[in-house]
Amino acid sequence: MTIHIGAKKGDIAPTVLMPGDPLRAKWAAENFLSDARLVNQVRGMLGYTGTYRGNPVTIHGSGMGMPSLSIYVNELIRDYDAQTLIRIGSCGGMQPQVGIRDVILAMTATTINTPSAGIFKEINFAPCADYGLLSAAVEASKSKGAKTHVGGIYSSDVFYDERPDLNEQLTRHGILGVEMEAAELYNLAARYGRRALVVLTVSDHLQTGEALPADQREQSFGDMVEIALEAAFA
Ligand code: HPA
Repeated sequence: MTIHIGAKKGDIAPTVLMPGDPLRAKWAAENFLSDARLVNQVRGMLGYTGTYRGNPVTIHGSGMGMPSLSIYVNELIRDYDAQTLIRIGSCGGMQPQVGIRDVILAMTATTINTPSAGIFKEINFAPCADYGLLSAAVEASKSKGAKTHVGGIYSSDVFYDERPDLNEQLTRHGILGVEMEAAELYNLAARYGRRALVVLTVSDHLQTGEALPADQREQSFGDMVEIALEAAFA
């Protein structure tokens, strides 16, 4: 047990998938894992452990934003020895060729700030994905036929952004989409020598204002879970 995770030591698998929403963790565990059992529910942040093709997997919520993700990822790595951590989440599209429901594999994550900023001080550290996971996810999404983009994303601290000029500059520099967690996951994976990847579905678009209706989110989310699981065990 840790401050925020009620699971016993052996209850967390070396491979952890992390949606932001704890109810997504429940849905993914029930639909994609065998023998899934609840291992955490502290503060309603649900975590489940089961198997995928015989491999142990935990699916655990991260909450929204880097401070929340940072708490869970620190404890999953430092107390439960998680080795492979894959965020499965949604993002806002920032390029015209990036459509709603497309998949983005985050090669890097640009930020204004992260919970790790206090360590880096004057350094602009470049948080990036594990290459092995990234290339396996590219293959997995190809075989699923998902329209996939690979490149940089933006991990923002705000959903209700008062600085649209910043998004314009990021779009100008090829950033594919915006979410709120990836950079800190990559920072922590780098710090502790673990593998990490962020797989995203485009749920809304900053330029067109389009948004994925709630009833269509499940299908896109399912594709992402499968891409993440296939990449983890490739
Ligand atoms: N901004 C930030 N985070 C997000 C968005 C967005 O538009 N869509 C999904 N996560």
